[in-house]
Amino acid sequence: MLVHGRIGKEVREVRLIGLVLGLVVTVALIGNAFAVSSGKTVEYSGGSAGKVVFDGKAHAEKGSKCGDCHTKIYPMKKGEGIKMADMNAGKSCGACHNGEKVFKTSDPANCNKCHKK
Ligand code: HEC
Ligand code: HEC
Ligand code: HEC
Repeated sequence: MLVHGRIGKEVREVRLIGLVLGLVVTVALIGNAFAVSSGKTVEYSGGSAGKVVFDGKAHAEKGSKCGDCHTKIYPMKKGEGIKMADMNAGKSCGACHNGEKVFKTSDPANCNKCHKK
């Protein structure tokens, strides 16, 4: 009886691990399906400089991972808008677009890499 009970417990534990792994994979797949990185874009009006389209696919192709941006730079939802001054101070897009990692936001030669009229 005792041995039998222990085996039953192990079987349950194995099943539980399988269930947890299954959930992790499912969540990862759903996450990707709705991810900004997999073909989704986020649009900003961009004021007088013209609209900005953030392309998740372009960023994924350049090696950006979800965790590079979420959630230390951005929450996982479209926000109130982003200010140029913050970017030039190294926040938001400027956390990477700072002239060290990637083309910087404050250089007039780069405005139209993001802004399209
Ligand atoms: C290079 C930066 C970057 C990477 C990498 C990135 N995202 Fe995002 N994500 C953003 C930005 C910017 C927004 C919009 C935030 C805002 O407007 O405040 C956003 C928004 C989102 C949203 C909300 C979309 C909406 O319309 O509300 C989801 C969901 C999301 N990201 C998931 C992901 C997942 C999952 C990954 C990885 C597969 C990922 N993101 C990778 C920058 C990134
Ligand atoms: C985690 C770092 C990171 C963040 C945050 C980030 N980018 Fe980028 N971005 C990159 C990298 C890396 C490239 C590729 C640069 C290259 O190839 O020279 C890139 C390229 C781009 C390009 C040119 C490629 C293309 O065709 O789309 C645009 C436009 C752009 N980013 C806009 C934005 C905007 C707008 C934001 C903020 C909403 C942002 N990025 C935030 C890392 C980042
Ligand atoms: C990495 C991409 C990127 C680059 C490079 C960039 N911007 Fe922006 N800019 C944005 C984003 C994103 C917004 C936010 C748009 C929104 O919320 O509607 C913005 C907003 C603005 C606004 C609206 C008002 C404000 O202050 O936020 C102005 C004006 C502006 N940019 C001018 C410029 C000029 C001028 C340059 C070049 C010197 C430049 N931008 C370079 C991404 C960029």
